[in-house]
Amino acid sequence: MIDRIHAGLNSTFEKLDDSQNILGNRLIKGKVREIVDMGDTLVLTTSDRISAFDRILSTIPFKGEVLNKLSLYWFDNTKDIIDNHIIAQVSPRSIHVNKCQVLPVEVIVRGYLTGSAWRDYKKGLDISGIKLPEGMKMDQKFDKPIITPSTKAEQGDHDMPISCDDIVSKGLVSKELWAEVEDKAIKLFNRGTELAAKRGLILVDTKYEFGLLNGKLVIVDEIHTPDSSRYWYSDSYKESFDKGENQKKVDKEFLRQWLMDQGFMGDGDAPEITSQMRVDIAQKYIEAYELLTGHKFVPSELTPEAESKKILKYITDKM
Ligand SMILES: Nc1ncnc2c1ncn2[C@@H]1O[C@H](COP(=O)(O)OP(=O)(O)OP(=O)(O)O)[C@@H](O)[C@H]1O
Ligand SMILES: [Mg+2]
Repeated sequence: MIDRIHAGLNSTFEKLDDSQNILGNRLIKGKVREIVDMGDTLVLTTSDRISAFDRILSTIPFKGEVLNKLSLYWFDNTKDIIDNHIIAQVSPRSIHVNKCQVLPVEVIVRGYLTGSAWRDYKKGLDISGIKLPEGMKMDQKFDKPIITPSTKAEQGDHDMPISCDDIVSKGLVSKELWAEVEDKAIKLFNRGTELAAKRGLILVDTKYEFGLLNGKLVIVDEIHTPDSSRYWYSDSYKESFDKGENQKKVDKEFLRQWLMDQGFMGDGDAPEITSQMRVDIAQKYIEAYELLTGHKFVPSELTPEAESKKILKYITDKM
């Protein structure tokens, strides 16, 4: 696999190739996804772009394929809890989904005190309106998972924490619907925690996006991927925690930590991501896939050009 990764450094899926402008303004660019608006549905293609602190920094070989396949794995393993947006898989990196009215909040569920929540806690701040007990330590497990939502910021802005009470009082989501969101988010997180535990991993925290489809609550976007979640290894958790050391992780926090060590937290010039870093990160993503699914990652033989063509054909056939 390592040879494929090295070879892949120069042929990542950077973007959906629409150089003939067939898609026109149907093509919308997210930070990581290429979104094609088909009216009632979307074709969502997960590129190999990597973002951190809301900035696109580089591309990582096979990342889009790993994320898309992992997300499909999790949608499949949670469909008894809540319906999702999937209609069909289009290509290794691409899915056809129902276009939903996305709720204007990112629903973050946390099982442990870490990352930005830990940084805020240390400053004495509450976490999305939740006052945590005093004396908690870095990476400590909560008695039960907490929901710490944030507003979905416009492009270029950072998401802002918001309390569950404010979501309802500001009218972003109705009280009844928010209660359903909380219930589903916790059930999804518990399922993720259980399945990850069987694979020797801790699902530390994750971000869900919900939407309405014909008035019904569904889960959209991606689910339990290393881009939307933190995962740690169960077996080394306690020792690292007791020593106050960073956890061994299978997620993007690895890149975030490196960026912070270089003094970058989203503002100003980003440091250059070296080839070695890109290889290391690719291995992390593949490791996450293999650990979580229990299957070896077998990358598709499609080149980015061929995959782009396949996706465009799917779209034009349906247009
Ligand atoms: N089924 C769906 N219906 C409508 N919109 C969707 C659906 N699934 C995902 N989306 C939206 O598509 C976008 C996915 O693109 P991407 O993740 O690259 O965006 P992003 O720049 O990361 O934005 P954000 O940081 O808000 O997630 C998100 O804005 C997400 O809310
Ligand atoms: Mg996103």
